[in-house]
Amino acid sequence: MSDETAIWSALPVPGIVLDGDDRITSVNSAAESFFNVSERALVGQPVWDRLMVDAPMEESFRRARDHGTPLFVNDVDVGTGERPPMQCNLQIGPLPGESGAMILVISPRELAGRMTKSQSVKSAAQSAIGMAQMLAHEIKNPLAGITGAAQLLSMNLGQEDLELTELIVAETRRILKLLEQVDEFGNTKPPTLRPVNLHDVLDRARRSALLGVAAHMKIVEDYDPSLPLAHGDPDQLLQVLLNLVKNAAQASDKEGGTIRLRTFYEHSFRLRRADGDGRALPLQVEVIDDGPGLPADLEGDIFDPFVSGRENGTGLGLALVSKIVSDHGGWISVSSVPGRTVFRISLPCAPREPKESD
Ligand SMILES: Nc1ncnc2c1ncn2[C@@H]1O[C@H](COP(=O)(O)OP(=O)(O)OP(=O)(O)O)[C@@H](O)[C@H]1O
Ligand SMILES: [Mg+2]
Repeated sequence: MSDETAIWSALPVPGIVLDGDDRITSVNSAAESFFNVSERALVGQPVWDRLMVDAPMEESFRRARDHGTPLFVNDVDVGTGERPPMQCNLQIGPLPGESGAMILVISPRELAGRMTKSQSVKSAAQSAIGMAQMLAHEIKNPLAGITGAAQLLSMNLGQEDLELTELIVAETRRILKLLEQVDEFGNTKPPTLRPVNLHDVLDRARRSALLGVAAHMKIVEDYDPSLPLAHGDPDQLLQVLLNLVKNAAQASDKEGGTIRLRTFYEHSFRLRRADGDGRALPLQVEVIDDGPGLPADLEGDIFDPFVSGRENGTGLGLALVSKIVSDHGGWISVSSVPGRTVFRISLPCAPREPKESD
């Protein structure tokens, strides 16, 4: 492949070369996907038969060709007959040396939009989850087939080989569980906000953890009894706290350690947003453990999905926590040194009930 051909096919936006009669002489791979047909089917065709542009192009196009000047047309709907029109910018330039030949580059506005900073990291994670959810769905069926086949096989096997089929079944079950977690993550609903006593939620989390994941741990309560009600969804906040307590318990060794649940009021805690609108988040809940601390290589990424430092971790726990907290308009932060890891959630107060006299 010559350099020019390589550059042409690597160009990530659709590009079309036209002869002096507006017939297509060449397209790049991005254009093939844009038209959804191969180059062979396009070459020789009049371009305006294949490309519907909702702007009077002919006149300015002719002028660009006559004067050998480039032409830029922004924000036009471009259709291909194959699918609904999409907003694009068009760039047209004369090709040197060939009489009347032009190159036309189409930049779909959707792609341009995707490159702006306005779409946050969160939506990248969101689409990763969307993909994973679709994948999970597709993997479940063949997985059921594998389990079934292994179980059939096992009927005629001796003890030694049975262990192998049991391994297949057990491992398949583990994958299924992971897939279910991915599915559950993708299906988290927006919270139903109402006044919530955070100490009730903390208490539920503490009791449930002591019966299960944190049975080997000591859990100490350090509450500010005058803490006002939060504006939140108690079930989702319970999920948040259970995940944090579970992580703390899993981080400490088998001997056990201490988890401290702390609440306090911090009047000045405000979340400043890009649009300048500040939001008061005075309610602070901390889950503190005395374990080894965050693995150094993960520190910046622990809230991303599928980031895990544990052998059997899915890495979805903190991604879910951070999604729920942000759905509450809250904030989560972490500080960690060996012997002291603090996850802090900052939440808004419940709006004041209007008084009778108001
Ligand atoms: N309290 C903590 N102390 C030390 N490391 C932690 C702590 N909490 C989280 N981590 C690290 O962050 C990683 C990501 O946590 P996260 O809850 O997202 O996933 P996970 O616990 O590995 O898997 P899952 O929660 O889906 O079962 C953990 O694997 C662990 O390495
Ligand atoms: Mg976890």
